[in-house]
Amino acid sequence: MAYLARKYKILGLIGDGIAEEIVPEAVRVLRASEEAYGLNLEVIGPHPFGAKYWLDSSRKASWHPEITRELIYDVDGIFKGPVGLPSLLEDVKLNYEVGFLPVGLRSELDLYANVRPCKLRPGVKSPLVDKEPGDIDFVIIRENTEHCLAEATHFGGIRDIGGYFERAGKVDFAADVYIQTSKGCERVIQYAFDLSRRRSGAPNDRKRRVTCTCKWGLLRGDTLFKRSFEKVAARYPDVEADYAWIDGWAYWAIMRPEHYDVVVTPNQYGDIISDLSGAIQGSMGLAAALNAGDEHAFAEATHGSAPDIAGKNIANPISLILSIGMLLEWIGEKRDDDRLRAAGKSINMAVDAVLGEGKVRSPDIGGSSTTEQVGNAVAQKVRSTELD
Ligand code: IPM
Ligand code: MN
Repeated sequence: MAYLARKYKILGLIGDGIAEEIVPEAVRVLRASEEAYGLNLEVIGPHPFGAKYWLDSSRKASWHPEITRELIYDVDGIFKGPVGLPSLLEDVKLNYEVGFLPVGLRSELDLYANVRPCKLRPGVKSPLVDKEPGDIDFVIIRENTEHCLAEATHFGGIRDIGGYFERAGKVDFAADVYIQTSKGCERVIQYAFDLSRRRSGAPNDRKRRVTCTCKWGLLRGDTLFKRSFEKVAARYPDVEADYAWIDGWAYWAIMRPEHYDVVVTPNQYGDIISDLSGAIQGSMGLAAALNAGDEHAFAEATHGSAPDIAGKNIANPISLILSIGMLLEWIGEKRDDDRLRAAGKSINMAVDAVLGEGKVRSPDIGGSSTTEQVGNAVAQKVRSTELD
C-alpha cells in the first residue's frame, strides 16, 4: 500500500545579513529530506522578517503582513534566519524593536527551552588543543522566556518594567529587571533532565549529568533557579545533579568540556555561554538552536546576521541546517512520526558526513567552499542516506 504522508506546514522567516544566503540553503536541505523520506511539507514563505524589512517598509513594520498570529500558531514549525543590521545600532529604539523580534516570538509561543548543542564534529578543529570528536558533546538548555528578557511579546508590543530615565532632557539612567518564576525554572530544568535521559551521558565517564549554572547566593532569581533545580533533580535519581557558578562554568568549559552532558541556565547566561560553546565546537557557523515549548518550536542559528561577511557567499549555512534537523525531529516526536524523526536525524548525519570528508568546507572552518556548495553537499548526502 502506498504510504500516505501526513502534511506538515513549516513557516520560514528570512532575517538580515547572511540570512539571505543561508536560508535558501536550509530550504534546499529541507526539500532534499522531504524527497528522500517521502514527506509532505508545505513550506510557507520564507517571508521577510527583521531590520531590512523594517527599513524597506519605511519603518512601518518589522515583518511581512502574511506573518500573522493565526499563522504562527497554526504551523507545525518555524525556522528563521538571524536578524539585525549595524545601521540600526545608532537608533536605540529601532534596535530594541528588531532585537526583540526573535525574543518576542519565543515569549509569544511560550518556547521556554532554547536547546543549543555543543558538539565537536568530525573534521572540525576545536581551538581547545588535543580535543577529538567525541570528547566534546554537551547541550546547553537556555531558559528562554524569563530573566532579563521576561516580558517581550511579539504581537502585543514590548512591555517591560525597566526603562530609560531622563533628567534635564537627557537619558541619565537605565534599568532592567530580572525575573524568575518557579514554574519557569522548573519546566526548563525538567526539560534538561528529560533530555539527559535520552542521551548517553557525558564524554568523560558516560554518566548522565545535568549541570545547573548561574550565580545563586548572590542574585535572588538565580537562587530560586538553584532551589528549583534541587527540587526537580530529586525526581531523577538516575541522573547526576551537578553545580557550577556561571563564572566557574566558563572556566571549566574550557578546561574540561568532556565533563558536561546537559547544562541548564537562566536566559542571559545561556546567551553568553552559547557563544563560548560556539567557539569550543570550532565555529559559530556550526552552532545550532531549537526554541522549544510544549506545543510549538522554531529553529534558528545561534549566531547573528554577520553583516561583515554578508553578500559574499561564504557564510556557513550549517548552523541553520542543523537547527532545521532539530525542528524535524521535534515535530516527529510531537506527532509521533518516524519518517520525520528519521529525516531530522539524517540531516545531522549528513552534516557529519560532509564535514568528515572535508572536501566541502566554508572559510570559518578552514575551507574555501561557498555557502551554496556547502548547502548542496549536505542536500546531496541527505538524498543518499537510506531509510532504515
Ligand atoms: C541569540 C541572540 C539573540 C538573543 C538576540 C538576537 C536577541 O543573541 O539567539 O543568542 O539574545 O537571544
Ligand atoms: Mn546570542
